[in-house]
Amino acid sequence: MTHAENAVVDYFPLTEECHHYTRRSDVDWDIQKYWAQRYSIFSLYDEGIHMTDDAWFGVTPEPVANKVAEDLAALTSKSKTVLIDMFAGAGGNVIAFALSKRWSTIIAIEKDPSVIACAQHNANIYGVYEQITWIKDDSFSYLESNSSTIDPSKTVIFASPPWGGPGYTTDKIFNLNTMSPYSIKQIQNACKGMDSALYLPRTSDLRQIAKLAPGEEKIEVVQYCMEGASKALVAYIPAVVAATS
Ligand SMILES: C[S@@+](CC[C@H](N)C(=O)[O-])C[C@H]1O[C@@H](n2cnc3c(N)ncnc32)[C@H](O)[C@@H]1O
Repeated sequence: MTHAENAVVDYFPLTEECHHYTRRSDVDWDIQKYWAQRYSIFSLYDEGIHMTDDAWFGVTPEPVANKVAEDLAALTSKSKTVLIDMFAGAGGNVIAFALSKRWSTIIAIEKDPSVIACAQHNANIYGVYEQITWIKDDSFSYLESNSSTIDPSKTVIFASPPWGGPGYTTDKIFNLNTMSPYSIKQIQNACKGMDSALYLPRTSDLRQIAKLAPGEEKIEVVQYCMEGASKALVAYIPAVVAATS
């Protein structure tokens, strides 16, 4: 399939992988602990929120997503009006960005058709489906093939990549170079020239994050907690602007 065929879509129908579980007995054992927290994840869960089974592991809980949206708005220059969410998942973050009303354009990219269907459906429940441009594609390919039309001076990238890889759950300090399938360098490379906010494991190696700072600029790192425990950190990184001669 070409990128043109893959690009802007109207609506992805829910698939048999998309579920709205109402009974614990319907939920696989490994996602039961997430399902038990469903109202902390989506306060409107009972309105018919849908998830794929995998999406439960990566979704950003609503209070955290709302705070990230507030902080991104506060930390970003008013000249930035376009937000691209590289890994939209089931919509946890992108719904909060749309509800913040800070952005004139929000582009949500997700490569899995069942997951983007859940995200669209969930955004509709929160009344923000129409405010988001939905792209079912590989976000790296999308950024590459649209580089001539994306204006870095107006655009901010939000990335909540999968955190897989050795050590994420067990190591005291998580080596971001082993994050899988995309390393921190690969993600930063895709964001080049644009401000970015990276949603990363709370134990991420801060020395590796510090190295992403362009020149003398500073990176803000914020830990996001719920009920006294950090869920994740977000690194707010200014754009690396190529020097002109
Ligand atoms: C951690 S989840 C994102 C969760 C999301 N922030 C939320 O709150 O629902 C990562 C998502 O990225 C998607 N993904 C992984 N690689 C991708 C790629 N190259 N392009 C687009 N989406 C990708 C996965 O299918 C998964 O849904």
